[in-house]
Amino acid sequence: MAELKYISGFGNECASEDPRCPGSLPKGQNNPQVCPYNLYAEQLSGSAFTCPRNTNKRSWLYRILPSVSHKPFESIDQGHVTHNWDEVGPDPNQLRWKPFEIPKASEKKVDFVSGLYTLCGAGDIKSNNGLAVHIFLCNSSMESRCFYNSDGDFLIVPQKGKLLIYTEFGKMSLQPNEICVIQRGMRFSVDVFEETRGYILEVYGVHFELPDLGPIGANGLANPRDFLIPVAWYEDRRVPGGYTVINKFQGKLFACKQDVSPFNVVAWHGNYTPYKYNLENFMVINAVAFDHADPSIFTVLTAKSLRPGVAIADFVIFPPRWGVADKTFRPPYYHRNCMSEFMGLIKGHYEAKQGGFLPGGGSLHSAMTPHGPDADCFEKASKAKLEPERIADGTMAFMFESSLSLAVTKWGLKTCSCLDENYYKCWEPLRSHFTPNSRSPTEPK
Ligand SMILES: [Fe+2]
Repeated sequence: MAELKYISGFGNECASEDPRCPGSLPKGQNNPQVCPYNLYAEQLSGSAFTCPRNTNKRSWLYRILPSVSHKPFESIDQGHVTHNWDEVGPDPNQLRWKPFEIPKASEKKVDFVSGLYTLCGAGDIKSNNGLAVHIFLCNSSMESRCFYNSDGDFLIVPQKGKLLIYTEFGKMSLQPNEICVIQRGMRFSVDVFEETRGYILEVYGVHFELPDLGPIGANGLANPRDFLIPVAWYEDRRVPGGYTVINKFQGKLFACKQDVSPFNVVAWHGNYTPYKYNLENFMVINAVAFDHADPSIFTVLTAKSLRPGVAIADFVIFPPRWGVADKTFRPPYYHRNCMSEFMGLIKGHYEAKQGGFLPGGGSLHSAMTPHGPDADCFEKASKAKLEPERIADGTMAFMFESSLSLAVTKWGLKTCSCLDENYYKCWEPLRSHFTPNSRSPTEPK
């Protein structure tokens, strides 16, 4: 496949025409009496019409047929998608999952939508406040099927296998160590090329933003120019057997049939688009004198709540970097956090736990649940000679951090059979080093 083209930038007003139809964007207005190439004009709103300019999001799509050309929606099998946060009782324990198992293509064909599994979440879909963490486990491409989410935005983190994502705005290819965001209402279809796994952070009612940088200044962390938006691409494809549009609406799955591919947008303009980002482009800020900075310095994207500084969810990464802090226990400190922390691993080993937390697995440290380095990590890092050293080379761990208290689903606690019952044991060897008669810390040898 030829390399795909993209527009660069974050949240900008963009315009794109499929090169097969030059001049397909109307000039000087959005809604002419008859559009160029006799296309239909359709607006996709990602914010209330009346939002202030800096949060107002919408795009205009010029398409062969409008989205409304479909048969009625009907309820379909929910699989393991849920927004019922009371399926099982609460569990404050530190939870860790072994790599989630991908179904074998030779046994059962599973595509991106039928392979969605809700792991945890909180909040209320109908009042547009909350989030869900889903795992996707699939082995087949979506064939004449697309999906759109009426409830929120999907931040997709592939961990194994490449994705080719068709959207109404064009095509995006995505490989592990890249992420993409498909915002509320945007139709997309996913091709996969092997047994494929990844994580999804869904936020209801808000959109992801770049975090404010404060004293860091105008540059740093995820720079806007590194976000990539697809360019217009259409197919004028009639589907004799019927094309299936799957919709997640108020947490439930519905499907309808239509006679044409939904990827029939010849041109579009606006600031409400899907986008992708390569995590390698993250400009890391870190402690260069002493102590361990809080992980908020590694925030890629944030979905803000109405409370200043408090996120519905942050997407945070732990990228390769230098560790140079003097007089410092360099790994993450022991802590208890009012926020909930779901972590996943795209590749390599995570510094605070060398074993047990594996690529394709996950962990959840809930509100106020204590956690930190395992005993082995503590012993090693307390004695380590503090030379400049590379940290996390060849790895990429990430965190979905939320101000909501997350409930784990029945699939997460039982059905997936990946929960590591022995997780707590990694802290059991921690022992007291207390020397009540001597203030001097034991010098590293
Ligand atoms: Fe933590």
